[in-house]
Amino acid sequence: MSDVGKDRLRKRDGIKASGVQDTGIGLEDCLAVEHNDPSTIVIVGATGDLTARKLVPALFNLYLNNGLPDPFHIAGCGRTKLNDQQFREKMEKAMKVNGIMDNSKWQAFSNILHYRPLDYGDLESFTNLSKFLRKLDQKHNTRGNKIFYLALPPSLYKPVAQKLGQAGLSEERANGNGWSRLVIEKPFGRDLKTAVELNRSVQRFFNEHQIFRIDHYLAKETVQNILMFRFANAIFEPIWNRRYIEHVNILASETLGVEHRAGYYEQAGVIRDMFQNHMMQLLALTAMEAPSQFETGRVRDEKVKIFRSLKPFPVEKLNKHIVLGQYGQGKINEKPVPGYREEPGISPNSLTPTFAKMKVFIDNWRWQGVPFYLTSGKRLPKKKTEITIQFKEIPHSMFRQTLGERIDTNQLTLGIYPDEKVTLSFQAKNPGARVCLRSASMDFSYHQNYTGPILDAYEKVLIDCMLGDQMLFWRQDSLEHCWSFLTPILNECETCDNKSEMLQFYESGSWGPPTIHRI
Ligand code: BG6
Repeated sequence: MSDVGKDRLRKRDGIKASGVQDTGIGLEDCLAVEHNDPSTIVIVGATGDLTARKLVPALFNLYLNNGLPDPFHIAGCGRTKLNDQQFREKMEKAMKVNGIMDNSKWQAFSNILHYRPLDYGDLESFTNLSKFLRKLDQKHNTRGNKIFYLALPPSLYKPVAQKLGQAGLSEERANGNGWSRLVIEKPFGRDLKTAVELNRSVQRFFNEHQIFRIDHYLAKETVQNILMFRFANAIFEPIWNRRYIEHVNILASETLGVEHRAGYYEQAGVIRDMFQNHMMQLLALTAMEAPSQFETGRVRDEKVKIFRSLKPFPVEKLNKHIVLGQYGQGKINEKPVPGYREEPGISPNSLTPTFAKMKVFIDNWRWQGVPFYLTSGKRLPKKKTEITIQFKEIPHSMFRQTLGERIDTNQLTLGIYPDEKVTLSFQAKNPGARVCLRSASMDFSYHQNYTGPILDAYEKVLIDCMLGDQMLFWRQDSLEHCWSFLTPILNECETCDNKSEMLQFYESGSWGPPTIHRI
């Protein structure tokens, strides 16, 4: 039976079969469907890769698990001229490629799929879309609720958001029904100035409560778990500070190279691609204070305080705070791979970094003097995302004379991917007559005692947009504070005279440039 089938089975057999009763939470509660208003999602850019690979598969999977509101409709829009039937066939193929096809349910699901050609530069085309949505709403009673998902190249965010606004599609009714939401993918700007401009132009039509800026890392279960782990347990918080913690490592390594994204990546590089979003959010979740309530505004307020407290890098001493690298040829999983400069579409003289390690300090009472090392790169030996809290050495060792050995310090690892687990390492006595220590660990696997369906990041993002819950999305102020921290670094790296000296090459399949330990 396919995984999709298994999930449905678990759903049908309810809480007993899923084993969710361990936590007292049923599947329906996990999906929060009962609060979900009828609505239509309009995917702008529906013939693109994101729609076929992520969005429609996520919506179909939610449908299979009864996670969509009823009624719910999906309107694909794009420049390509397709009719409903052609769009449905295209999506059917995509489900097969993704291995989540369920023939018995597809027919019913495909009935909620529609397609409208859309000319992004023509206001009349948007006015026609508005008429189409009104008709769809009248026919199916989706109560005028709409989500506009921009699955588009970033250069189109501004003009499309404006045209949606000019066609009246950002307007909301006062009674709570008839809401309108805008979903935007990263990158949100390429520096502080462009991010502020984009925010301003989108906010001419959409209010902040209507804007959902996605960071798919926030929707990962193990990332959401960070706040639960820190603040639903009394024992970690008292030691979560400069007194006990030596440093923190945040790592997101990938084995993949640039793939088919040369055009985007050459302009972005690793700092815009991974640091301005995912790495900064992991840092905030690790370092923030406990909000008074687990509530969207308050959680986001605490994060913004961390971003405001980031200690600016002295740009003249950048070498002491940042290591940049670019992958050369090498081997991944024992197979030879080309260097970045040899990848299709990449300039042979490119100075775009594919690896960065940064030493970041947070200027506040809790974290004064504690370095946070943020490392991310492509073509590294393993795909791994984890946060490691490195504790300080014991203040005095009564064993040193007896054992004559250094005592390893405690480490707490929050595994995000692929090891979705929490591990605490500690010292224990080695069995036997001789006194000696060994390192031991306590592990918690995230899926222990849970066999229910797991929401993939896009499913979670879509559910939250339907619910109007912005907790796992970027707020304007956070985004701009991060850009104001990173923009001077980017400027210096991109314009300094020794640009080529700042960039070290590393072999694909190694853990980065040889100078990685310089900081
Ligand atoms: C994306 C980046 O945001 O995150 C990609 O644009 C990167 O370059 C990807 O590969 C990593 O995401 P994940 O979920 O696979 O760790």
